[in-house]
Amino acid sequence: MIEFKLNGNKVSSAADVNTPLLWVIRDEFGFKGTKFGCGIGMCGACTVHMDGAPVRTCSFPLLAAANKNITTIEGLEGKHPLQKTWIEEQVPQCGYCQSGQIMQAATLLANNPSPSDQEIVDHMSGNLCRCMAYVRIKSAIKNAAD
Ligand code: FES
Repeated sequence: MIEFKLNGNKVSSAADVNTPLLWVIRDEFGFKGTKFGCGIGMCGACTVHMDGAPVRTCSFPLLAAANKNITTIEGLEGKHPLQKTWIEEQVPQCGYCQSGQIMQAATLLANNPSPSDQEIVDHMSGNLCRCMAYVRIKSAIKNAAD
């Protein structure tokens, strides 16, 4: 049994310890905002926070989440300035990658409240968007920054 905190609540999972955390979050606990994209840690659609750092849950075993604080997009719900600027900038097109984009961006602003354009590009470069919404993503992050 692996215990951890998920969006502020203590939870435990009896899934195989090698199960990707993505499937535990989605299928066992019902938080469907975390998406499956590539499944090999290359696209960022499955990004959540573990103790405030971004992790790609498709290639992150349940065992590694033991006693950690996991936050999904649902854990940010309505509380993060990025969510407001994301709506203002009308960032999503198909929307599939967006929860991962926001979770990745939130870790940037947590550590660097006023990032430069280049710092935004560098931090977000591993999160892919097939609709090419990169300009709007960058703009929303800039508008959420101090
Ligand atoms: Fe995890 Fe692509 S689905 S990085």
